[in-house]
Amino acid sequence: MIKLIKPYINFNEVKEELEDIFSSGWFTKGKNVEKFKQDIKSYTGAKHSFLTTSATTALTMALKSINIKKNDEVIISDFSFPATANVVEDLGAIPVFADVSLDTFNMLPEQLEKQITPKTKAVIFVDALGNPSGIHKIKEITEKYNIVLIEDAACAIGSSEFGIKCGNIANISCFSFHPRKLLTTGEGGAITTNNDEYAKFLEVKLNHGAVVNHGKFDFIDYGYNYRMSEIQAVMGIKQLQKIDEIVISRNKIKNEYVKKLSNSGFIIQTICNKVTHNVQSLVFKVPETVNRDKLIDYLKKHEIETTLGTYCLSGTSYYKEKYNNVQPNAKYLQENTITFPCYEDVSVEQVILELENYLEKYKK
Ligand SMILES: Cc1ncc(COP(=O)(O)O)c(C=O)c1O
Repeated sequence: MIKLIKPYINFNEVKEELEDIFSSGWFTKGKNVEKFKQDIKSYTGAKHSFLTTSATTALTMALKSINIKKNDEVIISDFSFPATANVVEDLGAIPVFADVSLDTFNMLPEQLEKQITPKTKAVIFVDALGNPSGIHKIKEITEKYNIVLIEDAACAIGSSEFGIKCGNIANISCFSFHPRKLLTTGEGGAITTNNDEYAKFLEVKLNHGAVVNHGKFDFIDYGYNYRMSEIQAVMGIKQLQKIDEIVISRNKIKNEYVKKLSNSGFIIQTICNKVTHNVQSLVFKVPETVNRDKLIDYLKKHEIETTLGTYCLSGTSYYKEKYNNVQPNAKYLQENTITFPCYEDVSVEQVILELENYLEKYKK
């Protein structure tokens, strides 16, 4: 089976550090967590960083740090994983769906401006499938209207626009280290920000509301435990050291696919000038003549795992029923995109061969 993903870490790379953790019995809040936290900060260039249990908890804490409350409106990119909307909904705030570009798959500036009201408190821009194209344009708008910009960079570690790394563009950014991502800690996430106030809030809230006063805990607020463990941090440290190489290697594989599919009618996600895309997911729009779902089933039967691009949030059963505001471009992309396997030793030839076999046999 050609699987969709393959992690960029093996046991031997972390063996020594894991032995050290097990023999010391120091599983949490230790030197590895501190190092990974610092590494994320220096890699992204952001002033502050925090490690979390997932991008979902990172996004929740980002929203809390800017005091999002019941009935506040938060405008979000509509082509994403449901967590982007769920974190807003969970706080009793209102997720307002902004449609995306059919080329970059990212939030359209004109759609954002159309949705801004006096109740708008924040915008969550999603680097769709790791692509930050257009985020600086969105930032200009949020600055103009004095609205906080949160970057859902769940997929975007290693990506950048205009030479500025994801995690250092918006007011707050959130990463995921789920196994589908380029860098995985099993489950896990991170928050980065240049804002001292948000950082102060996060420092306390992510540690049960505690500060240390004269060597003793003082619980000055209520708080949470969304902390990453030492074991996870070790995995993160190792992968972050090679993240730029991983990005280069994935772009090479992407180019192989693009070359081989150049006359097929499959169109790759657009990456704008001066953007580095980490190729978190290698996603193409399928031609009109191809039934995407049948293609995915066919490839699966032939031992190749693929999947849809991602989801139209406004079109999921829950949000459609509650808000009835399905965005057409995001819907189109959910129905007409496919993600191909992309990692170091994947056989692009095998994938393309089976794809061509399908195209020969079936039309829509
Ligand atoms: C854009 C986006 N946001 C948020 C998430 C949630 O990430 P996590 O599983 O780390 O909570 C994902 C996960 O796939 C995602 O793709």
